[in-house]
Amino acid sequence: MKSLDDYCQGKLDDMETRKLRRTLIDTYRYAPAKARRNGKEMISFSCNDYLSLSHHPDVIQAAQEAATRYGVGSGASRLVTGNTPLYSELEQKIANFKGTDDAIVFGSGYLTNLGAIPCLVGKDDLVIADELCHACLYAGAQLSRSTFTTFHHNDLDELEDLLKIKRPNHRKCMVLVDGVYSMDGDRAPIKGISLLAKKYDAWLLVDDAHGLGVVAEGKGSTYVEGYQMPVPLQMGTLSKAIGGYGGYLCASQPVIDFIRTRARSFIYTTGLPPATLAAAIVSLDLIANDKELVARPIRHAKLFTDALRLPEPESCIVPVILGAAETSLEAGEALEKKGFIVTPIRPPTVAEGTSRLRVTFTAEHEEADILRLAEAVRPFLPEKPINQFS
Ligand SMILES: Cc1ncc(COP(=O)(O)O)c(C=O)c1O
Repeated sequence: MKSLDDYCQGKLDDMETRKLRRTLIDTYRYAPAKARRNGKEMISFSCNDYLSLSHHPDVIQAAQEAATRYGVGSGASRLVTGNTPLYSELEQKIANFKGTDDAIVFGSGYLTNLGAIPCLVGKDDLVIADELCHACLYAGAQLSRSTFTTFHHNDLDELEDLLKIKRPNHRKCMVLVDGVYSMDGDRAPIKGISLLAKKYDAWLLVDDAHGLGVVAEGKGSTYVEGYQMPVPLQMGTLSKAIGGYGGYLCASQPVIDFIRTRARSFIYTTGLPPATLAAAIVSLDLIANDKELVARPIRHAKLFTDALRLPEPESCIVPVILGAAETSLEAGEALEKKGFIVTPIRPPTVAEGTSRLRVTFTAEHEEADILRLAEAVRPFLPEKPINQFS
């Protein structure tokens, strides 16, 4: 239809001019931290498979056996016939690991936030979010039709001001933060935020997609100085350190029971493939029992930041802020020519003028490759560091 095609083509042309068009590249991830692109062997510094568990032989074997036993698909929504026994095993394991009564597994992390937030708050309620929280927290808040406001990144004073002024006008209130910020690699001050949330009777949801399996000996961002912080809603994904796919929410029994019977993105969608659940069960065991494995991604990130005298990493995500979108594209292309995949991140994912290389470190990177990458990145570093949070 011409008007439709013209609309889309106009948008694409505009993005092309502003160097903001996104394209897909076939990537064959054939081994931990390795990928083949356009026939060339590359080292990937852009995967969120932080522990390389997607290629772990035990994880693969579990997935293969589950596919053989249960088939490749779950056949229906979990509330119909899609609830394989693997679900309860996985949910109990996650809950035990996170120290909560129970857990619920969704189709993805994105679906978890789309489902859980509107279950708990509605149009008379208030949602306050860190401005840099993930797109799916924004989407969940929007779906809830609550009054929505943000505070400057990690600014506890502003959060308290908002709670003080706005909280009394609403029956219920949720605070949304990431444990580890996906494009910045820094962490939320969970201790301070959880104390504020408690003080103002706000329900804190921490999205720990990038913390599980990596920070606090793998237990995630809600563990601070060896203790579980009082965070009633601990959400995460099975797609990053766990190495597979799916999302989860850990909480008390009444919360999980309520969400199981109410969340639309849980009810009206097909259950995950059994192989994915079996893989996650084995991955969680590996994370819980191998402290050396979970320590490696941040150690590798530190090797890189030390080499380039960048700030000490708080996670295994290191942003190298370059400024203009064009510069980040040039840097990404130059690194690719040297055999490294480091995807440039541009607006609208990050703020204008803060385009960057988002470098992620995994357990299986070789130290020599990390140092070679640092040397390849060095020529692109701006003379004066650019503040990504301004
Ligand atoms: C902070 C954060 N939350 C949620 C998600 C969504 O998780 P999933 O990929 O499982 O949908 C992502 C990344 O994709 C993320 O970075």
